[in-house]
This record gives sequence, C-alpha cells and structure tokens, in this order.
Amino acid sequence: MKNGTLIEAKDVITRFGRHTIHEGVSFKISKGEIFGLLGGSGSGKTTLLREMILLQKISEGSITILGTNVTTTSFKMAERLRRQWGVLFQFGALFTSLTILENVSIAMKEYTNLPDWLIEKSALMKLSMVGLPSKVATMYPSELSGGMKKRAALARALALDPKLLFLDEPTSGLDPQSARAFDELIVTLRDTLGITVVMVTHDKETIANVLDRFIILGDKKVLFEGTMASLKETHNEALKNFLS
Ligand SMILES: Nc1ncnc2c1ncn2[C@@H]1O[C@H](COP(=O)(O)OP(=O)(O)OP(=O)(O)O)[C@@H](O)[C@H]1O
Ligand SMILES: [Mg+2]
Repeated sequence: MKNGTLIEAKDVITRFGRHTIHEGVSFKISKGEIFGLLGGSGSGKTTLLREMILLQKISEGSITILGTNVTTTSFKMAERLRRQWGVLFQFGALFTSLTILENVSIAMKEYTNLPDWLIEKSALMKLSMVGLPSKVATMYPSELSGGMKKRAALARALALDPKLLFLDEPTSGLDPQSARAFDELIVTLRDTLGITVVMVTHDKETIANVLDRFIILGDKKVLFEGTMASLKETHNEALKNFLS
C-alpha cells in the first residue's frame, strides 16, 4: 500500500445468497482523513462498514487495513486489529445496566492491565474529550439525552486510543443543534488526535462540512470517489444531483 494509505478496498464483491450487493468496489482512505460512505438506502454502506471491521465477510476481492488484509487474516491478528479501531453503531447501544463510567471502562478492563484507579481516570478523560461533564460518569444511559448518549458511546469507542474510528450515521436521531455540535466534535478529534474517521452518513450538513472525501455507492459500484469540490465539477448530472 502507498505510504499514508490506511485502508484499501480492492474489487470487493459481496453476495447474500443470489443477491449481489457490491460488484467490484474499490477505494482508498488516507491517514487523518474523514472519509464518507454515501449512497441511497440499501446501496450497501453499512455492509461495507461491517466488512471493514470484520463483522461481515466479503465474497471476493480484498480489504487491507493498517497493512493487514482483513479478508485473509488469522484469528489472532484479527483480535489485535480490533483493538486499533473504535466503532459507533447507528443505534450506538450503551449497556443500560452500567453507568457511563463503567461503559467507557469496559474495553480497558478487558484488554489492559491498568489498575482500576488509572482506568477510571482515563475514562473520565475520555468523557471530557467528548465534551461531557464529569457528573455524567455515575449516571445511567437512560438519564442522558440522545446527544449525550452519542457522546458517551463515542467516549467508549475512544477508550483504547484507536487509530481509526468507524461511525454509522452518527448524527441520525439528533436534533439539528446536537448534530452540528457532534460534527464539530468529530473534526476536533481528528485535528487533535490525528485519528482517521470512516463514516456512513446521509446528513447533508455533515457531508458538506465534515467529510474530506467520500465515495457514493450505487448500482453495486462506486459511482464517485473524491471531494465535494470535485463532485460539483462533474458533468454527470445524476451524480451532481445526488445531494439534492
Ligand atoms: N446479513 C444479510 N443477509 C442478507 N442480506 C443482507 C444482509 N445484510 C444486508 N443485506 C442486504 O444488503 C443490502 C444493503 O444493505 P445495507 O444495510 O448495507 O444498506 P445501507 O446502504 O446501509 O442502507 P441504509 O441507508 O438504509 O442504512 C440490502 O438489500 C440488505 O437487505
Ligand atoms: Mg445503513
């Protein structure tokens, strides 16, 4: 892989039974980018995200992440890889019976030998990184607003200081103000931590203001890969109109 390329998908084919979802999908994501997976409903965005994080197998082709071909990797290597990325799912489920602090601490308890006091300190730091006050630490998910829950889930995704962050529709279900605040947070995290972000989104504001580059999936293929500026210059009217 080219230096600076963190993720490369090559000719990915995905089939569910007789149903083909991706028919030769290729793209590259560079270090430090905020990269979008766009496309209509059912175009295979979430599936592609799940394939990148080893929750779903591809049928043919390859996906290489951080220098490892995730499609052929060993179980042990897969375990090591998983610790290098954080994930925020569309319905970013926090464990409802655990406090916010416990939710954020889980991965550190499982994967590190840090003493409890240090895990707590580090979890509190993650909460402050995502803009949550320390008083939420002892609260339960049901006591938080939608926007705060998303932030808490993001803090949990950041627990192991990942190099990569995967987000599926991070602003869906948020009111406009919380959505824009979440957008800003993602950009700040990238700028301060140098983290690479891959997100599925159909939020026009996010697409316009947050993404550095993106692909548009359609007809089982990548219809477009590039920046918003290059999309505006395309002569393909269908693509140009994709955002409106
Ligand atoms: N495990 C599965 N088994 C069978 N079909 C599946 C499976 N997962 C996804 N699909 C199908 O693959 C297609 C793409 O689904 P996917 O969830 O990736 O779309 P999406 O682009 O994320 O859509 P949305 O914008 O609605 O979230 C859909 O037709 C879906 O029914
Ligand atoms: Mg989806």
